[in-house]
Amino acid sequence: MLREWLLESRVLPVITPGEVAVTVQLCRTLAAAGMKAVELTLRSPTALEAMRAVVAEVPQLRVAAGTVLTPAQLDQVQDAGAAFAVSPGATPALYQASRTGAIPLLPGVATASEVMAGLEQGLDCFKLFPATALGGQGLLKALAGPFPEARFCPTGGLRADNFRTFLALPNVICCGGSWMVAADLVAAGDWDAIGALAAEAMRIGSAPQQR
Ligand code: 3PG
Repeated sequence: MLREWLLESRVLPVITPGEVAVTVQLCRTLAAAGMKAVELTLRSPTALEAMRAVVAEVPQLRVAAGTVLTPAQLDQVQDAGAAFAVSPGATPALYQASRTGAIPLLPGVATASEVMAGLEQGLDCFKLFPATALGGQGLLKALAGPFPEARFCPTGGLRADNFRTFLALPNVICCGGSWMVAADLVAAGDWDAIGALAAEAMRIGSAPQQR
């Protein structure tokens, strides 16, 4: 299910919610530009409230909860209506909680051992984080050898000018990033610029690719 969702999304904007009404407006703009999903991170005091509001007011978007680090946070985002949870890494406690939880987890990985630990959990989709700092496309190509079944959502350092080369890799199912929701554009309420960046990302993301 998560694999289909990520494949359908292709690009996952990573948003740290500020004011709730602004986050809702931002998500409306992304949805209008054709985006299918957003990741709202638990990095601000408004995050859970913003998640509830976006789930209720922008139902055409699949809302992922990001920066879910603990079992308690997994419970919280599940209650807030998140469709799936994203973590920058993974711990035994988080895996354990996710096995009995109601929503899928996209765990972060940075090494072959971490991919193996995730595969042992029966998962096949991973967030590669922080993607460019870890080696970016070179690392993804190297991981394709031993882990042909694994699919990745690289995040961290992806921008308008490099994400398309990530998306072209056969083991990249979706790309995450904040380039189309940059803080200065949000602060300025520049919805036109945000909408244009999002529409361009979706245009590139929906071009036919092998998967
Ligand atoms: C994340 O947590 O996924 C990253 O903060 C997003 O990285 P970016 O800001 O470099 O796109």
